[in-house]
This record gives sequence, C-alpha cells and structure tokens, in this order.
Amino acid sequence: MLPATDELSQSALNPLKSLDVWEDDVLERYPDPESIATDKSTEAYRNYESPERDTVREFYRLNHTYQSYDFVLSKKANYLKFDKKEMPVWDAFQFLNQLVDDSDPDTDLDQFQHLLQTSEAIRRDGHPDWMVLTGLLHDMGKVLCLFGEPQWAAVGDTFPVGCAFSDKIVYPEFFKDSPDYDDERYNTKYGVYSPNCGLDNVHLSWGHDEYVYHMMKDYLPEPGLYMLRYHSFYAQHREHAYDHLMSAHDHEMFKWVDLFNPYDLYSKNPTPPNWVELKPYYEALIKKYLPATLRF
Ligand SMILES: [Fe+2]
Ligand SMILES: [Fe+2]
Repeated sequence: MLPATDELSQSALNPLKSLDVWEDDVLERYPDPESIATDKSTEAYRNYESPERDTVREFYRLNHTYQSYDFVLSKKANYLKFDKKEMPVWDAFQFLNQLVDDSDPDTDLDQFQHLLQTSEAIRRDGHPDWMVLTGLLHDMGKVLCLFGEPQWAAVGDTFPVGCAFSDKIVYPEFFKDSPDYDDERYNTKYGVYSPNCGLDNVHLSWGHDEYVYHMMKDYLPEPGLYMLRYHSFYAQHREHAYDHLMSAHDHEMFKWVDLFNPYDLYSKNPTPPNWVELKPYYEALIKKYLPATLRF
C-alpha cells in the first residue's frame, strides 16, 4: 500500500533516515587523520551505490536546488525575530532531543549526547570554558527541524549564496537546478559581494549554524561565535574555496573554527558520558555565560 500523501511528501522532503546520516557522511568525507590507517571509511565513501549514500545525494540535490539567495533572506527574516519559543536552557536540550528517531536503530546516541561528548572532549584537552560551552551548544540550532523546516534547511554543508557556487562544495553538479545558477546577479565570482568584504557581509545557506550563532551572539566571545557560525562551512575551513570573500580578521578567527572542527567530527563514542557526575559543572558553566531562558 502506498503511504498517505503527506507522509509521501514528508519523506520526499526529508530523504535522510535521521540527521546523523548527514554527519556520518561528512565523517566519511573527512575521516579522522588519527585512524585513517585502520579505517575503511574512505573506501566506503567511494561506494556511491549504497542506499544510504543515495539518501545523502537526494538530500544535497534538494539543498542545492532550493537554498537560493531569496530563500536564505526569507528564512533569516522569519527566524531571526526569535518569536517562536522561550525556554530555560535545560528545557531546550530536552526539546532538541525530540529529534531522536525511534525508528532508526542505527542512531546510537541522542542529540544531547553528541553535544556533551563534543564539550567533554574540548574540556579534556584543557581549552577555555567558553569553548567547552560552545561545544555544548553548537548544534542547538537543529531545533529548526522541530519548527517544521526540512532537513536540507537545517543541516548539511553550508556555502555562500549570492555569488558563484564553488565546485569544492560537495555534489556541485546539483547547483545547476538552483534558480541562482543562471541569474547574472548571483553567478559571478563575487556576485553581490566585493573582494575580501568579510564573511559577516556574506549570506551563507540557511541552517542550524547561522541560527545558533544569532541565538548566542550576545553571550559568547568572538572565537566561539565563529565556531558556531561556520562549523559546517566545509568548503572554506577544509577546502579554502572562498578566500576571496574572507577578510584578514576572518582568517585569524578561522584558526578557532579549525580547532573546533575535530571535536565535532571525531568525539563520537558509543559510551554515553556520566551525566550525573557532570551536571554540577555544566550547570555552573551555563549560569556563568547564559541568561535564564533562551529565545527561539
Ligand atoms: Fe552542527
Ligand atoms: Fe555537531
């Protein structure tokens, strides 16, 4: 029997079995340098025939087709009003955890566990406490999915809109279906921007990074804000495809993004951290930097 029409369109809009499938795919593209010798993942990434890989391709087809300049501006106008919800930080983590897909046996840990493993790995290495907090918060923007955004408007590698798409972005062939691809305002090297104008003047594709950056921008130091805002901008922090839009200050700050990225990608561990032991530390940390409630 065919699924009901709205189920059909939901799965057509959301091809990934869970958001983790995107992150697992990034990990295959950029395997942990420390385990490359023994890891089969590079090999696995070349296996373009796997059913899981097909969902990732479809996810990027939708992402590249619909994340146009106008789309990004309209999402910013809507979400950056922060008029959707207001809740204490701890409630926000619980809210985020509703993203766990019970039907997916491969989803090993919930969203909060990923955040906690990231922050704990940062803490273990002796980095400043605001960076630990950045690790704890970096994926909070995924609540976009709970506000009804499709997967391709919440996660995925981010990239600038309003100028030519780099062929260093994953699955660049899908950009030919973007309305911006043939639009002369947006398809030149600089498009609506000017040389080295600085990323703060550049619109990136809409998703959880930009959203959480705006949520936190009054509370964390600038290096932490760069980590939040650009952690999925692989075309720059891994491929250096947009140096021509970056200012000298961006380059300086991207050292922090580079420092953060391995904690996001390589801290996953099947054993959940001992939350009861950790709780007092994190309660104090949140109290130190954040207000009593967060606005979404
Ligand atoms: Fe993320
Ligand atoms: Fe993450």
